[in-house]
Amino acid sequence: MRILVLNGPNLNLLGSREPEIYGLETLADIEVLMRNQAADLEDVELAFLQSNHEGVLVDAIQDHRDWDGLIINAGALTHTSVAIPDAITSVGITTIEVHLSNIFAREAFRHHSYISPAAWGMITGFGYRGYLVALDLLHDLLTEEAAIEDLDED
Ligand code: DQA
Repeated sequence: MRILVLNGPNLNLLGSREPEIYGLETLADIEVLMRNQAADLEDVELAFLQSNHEGVLVDAIQDHRDWDGLIINAGALTHTSVAIPDAITSVGITTIEVHLSNIFAREAFRHHSYISPAAWGMITGFGYRGYLVALDLLHDLLTEEAAIEDLDED
């Protein structure tokens, strides 16, 4: 099971960026935690990419079109990008949207996500823990889907 973890603009600054909102963990810390969790799940391969550029994120989604799942925190592009959800829908990858902060408890412009209609669901407000929950949920769903496919083949 191959899962891509994408992070958008300014998330490279995690750890020092407004820690009272986003927490003290760096993106590298989150990667380590996710890799440890993936090792426990055994059958999961992870790839990580952070970019401040919308087109790089779109390219990454297209390049991983054959992968099984996507965990994405698009940062501020959540509230502006049509190209990212279009890429997700175009390749049909099962997606969970993650936000460290609770976007609904913040400024009104953060309340709308263009990503959500293209995603299976959203986890928002639980800090770095959201990425770990997303990995668990995606693993569960993909395992269930594979079991259903096996049944259909019998
Ligand atoms: C964010 C929330 C966005 O509104 C913001 O622009 C970010 C981070 C979050 O993880 O809470 O960059 O996606």
